[in-house]
Parts: sequence; structure tokens; C-alpha cells
Amino acid sequence: MTPVLKRIHHVEFAVGNAKQASYFYRQAFGFDQIAYRGPETGCRERASYVLRQGDIFLVLTTPLRHDDPLSVWLMLHGDGVCDMAFEVEDAAAAHAHAVAAGAVSLRPAEKTVDAAGEITTAAIRTYGEVAHSFIQRGGYRGFLPGFEKREIKGKPTGLTCIDHIVGNVADRQMDRWVRWYDDTLGLGRFVSYDDKDISTEYSALRSTVVASADRSIKFPLNEPADGRKKSQIQEYIDANLTAGVQHLALKTDDILATIAALRANGVDFLPVPAGYYDRVWDRVGDVAEDRERIKELRILIDRDDSGYLLQLFTRPLQDRPTFFIEIIQRCGSESFGKGNFKALFETIEQEQALRGNL
Ligand code: FE2
Repeated sequence: MTPVLKRIHHVEFAVGNAKQASYFYRQAFGFDQIAYRGPETGCRERASYVLRQGDIFLVLTTPLRHDDPLSVWLMLHGDGVCDMAFEVEDAAAAHAHAVAAGAVSLRPAEKTVDAAGEITTAAIRTYGEVAHSFIQRGGYRGFLPGFEKREIKGKPTGLTCIDHIVGNVADRQMDRWVRWYDDTLGLGRFVSYDDKDISTEYSALRSTVVASADRSIKFPLNEPADGRKKSQIQEYIDANLTAGVQHLALKTDDILATIAALRANGVDFLPVPAGYYDRVWDRVGDVAEDRERIKELRILIDRDDSGYLLQLFTRPLQDRPTFFIEIIQRCGSESFGKGNFKALFETIEQEQALRGNL
């Protein structure tokens, strides 16, 4: 039977220096630190910091030994997402189902019992070198085994939950991974965009979104399409050496306040092309938010049949042009900002050209 994915339990990043990365995510995005695992708590191989804002849990992990496979992972890919972990009813059943459907096993189900209770975890591999852990909490009271409470209060910026997580896969691999998500995790095809939707004069991509039945988990999958110059998806794959997580979209109920706070914290967003606000209102019509304020904060707007959305994208958060974060507020719209793709991709291409990758 297809596993029931209850929620995204956490997203784990492999980073070169988790102590500094956790400071960045706390100071820039307003996360609280809630837990820690490392040599001081009896884990001599790795240090991990757990950050939380609303229902978003991030884990930042750094390997402490040269012979840890995670050190090789970092050398190949640089800082990035290494695990999108799900909470499930039954980790052994979820793992068995996925493996029977063709997934590669990374860890079979293993039960841990400690002072915080009993917990069972397992893991499979998805695209690139990214894992999906399955976490069966029962009534487990801690974050995960080995973690201790270490609280540092952040200044929240209004981020509430993960809206979607985007993967970039290699040319002609998208349909394969769409099928893989259906077969192994029961995430069905939600919506597709072809290269006519997402192309500029130079470069293009195709995207298909897979989602859970209640759409609480949404994973768009991108692949590069042929254009006159290099697709931004190909640039990512070249920098990451393989497929990987391109961006995490974090939801807010008040994007004006969230973007104002993030800008004040020094978060670096993609610039909005000149002239964007001269044309956008004809396309999207009335919105509840103040138009002048939207323009001041350089936020993007899009509309579909069911409503509108406001969104903005950071520049890559590390020196390789790989992972970034999107901030999104949905006002009825369940789509992904198709109307902004063209305007935005021209900006991305300018940045690619500056990096010498176009
Ligand atoms: Fe997105």
C-alpha cells in the first residue's frame, strides 16, 4: 500500500560549517535554534543544529571527520539539501513499499529507544544524492535521537510552513522522476509547464509538479530544455555535479512584513526587472495589498483562475549558483507564478552572464 506521508518533518542541509550557517539562518531569516547534536551530546562524527520557525524545521549538519561520506558529498556538491524527511505512520512499511517500487534503500527501518521514547526511522534515495527519510514518531518527545534542547530565540519574520520544494534533474529525466514519485511515495502529477511557458530568447526549462492528495506536500521537478544558450537548470546541475534541490518555498501570511524584515536583515533578493510594475497591474488586476508598498519592497505578483499570489526569490545562498529560497503568500492561487517566469528568467540570465555561465 502507498505510504501515508503526514508532513515534511524537516529539511536537512549538509554544510561546511554548521555553526556559522545556523547563525546566518537565525539572523537573516529569523529562525529559532531549538536543538543540537554533536560531540558535546555524544555524537563525535557530526554536528547538527535544528532551527524552527512556525512549522518549518531545518537541520544544518557538518561532518567533523575527513572520512565521513558527508565530507565527500560536500566536496562534490557544496552546501545544499541532503534530506527531505517525511513523518509517516509506519516507517518500515513506507520504506518497504518504496523499495519494492524501485527506490534505492539508504537505511532500512531501525528503532531507537531512549529517555524521550521510541522512534523508528528509515531512508531512501531520490534524485541526485538527496535522501528521503521516513520518521515514525509514535509519541517520541525529543526532536530525534541524540539531540538535546539548545534554545536560542530568533526574531521571527512571519514564515509559517514549507509551501513547496523544487528539484532540478538532468535533461530528459523529469518524466522518469515524476513516475518515480507516484510509484514510490504516491505523489501524483498536479500540474505541468512546458518550455513554451518557461522560456526566454535564450534558455528554457520544463517543470512538472507532483503533490500529495491534499496538496500539503508539493514537489515541482524541473529539467533543462534546449535554448540558444545554457538553461539556468543546466547551470545548477553543472555547479552541483548532479540533480539536487533548487529551492525551498516558505510561506507567509503577510509578505509585506516578511520581505521588509528580511531586507532589513540583509537577505539578498533577485532584482525585479525595470518596468515590471508598469505592466504587472494590467495582468493581475486588484489585490488587497497596497500597490505602492509592493513596488517599494520589489515583490512579484501573479494571478490564475482561482486567485493571486505574491512571491520573491533570494539570490543563491552560497557561492555556487545552486540553492535559494522563495518567499510566497497565496491569496487563492494554487499555482507557482508562471506569469513571473519570463520577467524573472531574464534577470536570472543577466546574473548567469555575470558568472560567465550563459
Ligand atoms: Fe517556487
